[in-house]
Amino acid sequence: MPELRINPSLLAADIGHLADGCRRVEDAGADELHLDLMDGHFVPNMSFSPAVVEMARKVVDIPLNVHLMMTNPGPYVDAFCDVGADSLLIHIEPDIDHAAVLKHIRKKGVKPGIVLNPNSVLELIVPVLPLVDEVLFMTVFPGFGGQAFMPEPLARIKTLREQNPDLAISVDGGINLETASRCVEHGANVLDVGSSLFNVEDMKAEITKWRGMLKA
Ligand code: DX5
Ligand code: ZN
Repeated sequence: MPELRINPSLLAADIGHLADGCRRVEDAGADELHLDLMDGHFVPNMSFSPAVVEMARKVVDIPLNVHLMMTNPGPYVDAFCDVGADSLLIHIEPDIDHAAVLKHIRKKGVKPGIVLNPNSVLELIVPVLPLVDEVLFMTVFPGFGGQAFMPEPLARIKTLREQNPDLAISVDGGINLETASRCVEHGANVLDVGSSLFNVEDMKAEITKWRGMLKA
């Protein structure tokens, strides 16, 4: 299994001090910064834009892991790649030409990833698996931080890990130390975490604790 990665999600930062939120994540020793982009159509909420990714690129050096919750991400790929995204993840649910979008992301020198909602079956992503570096399982329905973890994807994570020992497998939504441990046991190695890491006094101590407790 690839190394554990802990990626705090900027969605849980104080919106009035987003640059400070980015620095806090880097100073805490996180592996990547996770940024959530919502279009108000695929999910019933709106969040950041390419300008926020551009700001993050200016203030931190860690990789930017950008999660697009969009019905039609294709036309925005260049904008996110050009401002410094290191990985770009799109959802499997919208009826788009996923292969074309993922190939375009790769051509831009950015790592492509695919995301499944908690009720999406694994079979859906089989055709695009050879095109991605990361598969992200939503463990809540996307749109809002602070929701309760849904266990349904755990069995799918286990199956995918058995078939792909080296793939980056991520989870996002309701991740705390207890749910993280269940995800890691089932084969996830990337944790996208909002409230559980931003709502503590000392994010660095918390991440250090998680790394110690989640060791295989
Ligand atoms: C949810 C987002 C998540 C969110 C997770 O739609 O994709 O990345 O920030 O937040 P928590 O960890 O609070 O559930
Ligand atoms: Zn996310």
